[in-house]
Amino acid sequence: MEKIRRSTVRQLLAEGAQAVGSKVDVKGWVRTRRGNKNVQFVALNDGSTIKNLQIVLDLSKFDDEALKPVTTGSSIHVQGTLVASQGKGQSVEVQADELEVYGTADPATYPLQKKGHTLEFLREKAHLRPRTNTFGAVLRIRHALAYAIHKFFNDKGFYYFHTPLITASDCEGAGAQFQVTTLPLDSLPLNEEGRPDYTQDFFGKMASLTVSGQLEGELGATALGCIYTFGPTFRAENSNTPRHLSEFWMIEPEMAFYEIEDNMDLAEEFIKYCINYALEHCKDDIDFLAEHFDKDLVERLRFVVDNDFVRLPYTEGVRILEESGRKFEFPVYWGVDLASEHERYLVEEHFKRPVILTDYPKEIKAFYMKLNDDGKTVRAMDVLFPKIGEIIGGSQREESYDKLQGRIDELGLTGMEWYLDTRRYGTVPHSGFGLGFERLVLFVTGMQNIRDVIPFPRYPNNCEY
Ligand code: 4AD
Ligand code: MG
Repeated sequence: MEKIRRSTVRQLLAEGAQAVGSKVDVKGWVRTRRGNKNVQFVALNDGSTIKNLQIVLDLSKFDDEALKPVTTGSSIHVQGTLVASQGKGQSVEVQADELEVYGTADPATYPLQKKGHTLEFLREKAHLRPRTNTFGAVLRIRHALAYAIHKFFNDKGFYYFHTPLITASDCEGAGAQFQVTTLPLDSLPLNEEGRPDYTQDFFGKMASLTVSGQLEGELGATALGCIYTFGPTFRAENSNTPRHLSEFWMIEPEMAFYEIEDNMDLAEEFIKYCINYALEHCKDDIDFLAEHFDKDLVERLRFVVDNDFVRLPYTEGVRILEESGRKFEFPVYWGVDLASEHERYLVEEHFKRPVILTDYPKEIKAFYMKLNDDGKTVRAMDVLFPKIGEIIGGSQREESYDKLQGRIDELGLTGMEWYLDTRRYGTVPHSGFGLGFERLVLFVTGMQNIRDVIPFPRYPNNCEY
């Protein structure tokens, strides 16, 4: 073939009428082929957009043999002329002159034959599902949100701070960590107490995958002012729900000199910015998902962007739940860790908008949160969203060395000397939060299951690919 610069489908559809008459070169995967004995139409997709480019193959130029391998899933290279389209559904199409087949996809075995596979079926084929319209849309939106997050923080003067994935501390204290070891599990070296001898392990002590970058993030914030992390985190809780993954990505901003109100303002501005970015930059993909899965999607996204979040103390929230007269599956009382059904009642039925719940009982929150003057509650803030429940968890941090040390002793935590140094030397009021990236993607795409918004999900009993 002649040397012509390749265009993506997205470029050609964007240029549209202006480029009509030019010679073009496109490459991609065949979505469908249909037609009659004079002309065949290929819907070509190259991943650059949800839209397909129509390739017109005139059978006076291409014989049956040449077209035989052009089946759903095969990969092709086409050169031809961009022409105004006669058919409906597209403004331009390519009148092909040259065709090269890179790779065939045997129709007898290629799993993505027909349209309308169920999401459950596609989860079984997660290695190929990025090729479908639905997952293409989700993954492009995921990308746009990741970019928006970096842009938001960079524009605000926050620094992207890299925290370790392998750690010897348990940030959330929930005991849901995956252990990292090179000790031989079938012949464990034991110490005098008959316990595994971690001094012989790779790091000379017990180590795990991190559940959060926050503690190291605080080291960054107390040096650089405002930082954020954006990386994978790992939790070994046995939660088989549509909102939990064993490996998920978290964004954790941490800000010196921020009090809880500043923290809430930032969280609200941040999440609205991300949703708005997606509305502005992912219109085709969002419209596709809205049409196929969730008619109210765009309205719901706009509603969140356009309205103030409710800010409410936990104690008030519990009172509303108790007075609701609703029979919840899990009982509600002051001190209980709210379940998703309680959070969603407040958001979807009572207030009908996102809620930031604050000042939780200290017993149900992590050790590092700042104690309120009542001695019972801490300056926590959870952002609760429609359809999702908790999307952000955060707090003002305890900056008093004595109080923090007291709490660490109470809970019997060890190995925290390095963390306590932030309070020992030049301590400052500071705050931060964690946004679960997949929960944000779940909300923006309107998908129902968190396993469908990450390319290769990890959950109990599933570690394929
Ligand atoms: O509320 P979490 O546990 O908070 C922290 O880890 C703090 N260190 C954050 C901070 O203050 N820097 O988790 C934060 C968010 C949750 O609100 C939720 O969106 C998400 O992380 N998350 C999960 N997402 C998917 N799967 C799981 N198993 C998740 N666990 C938490
Ligand atoms: Mg939480």
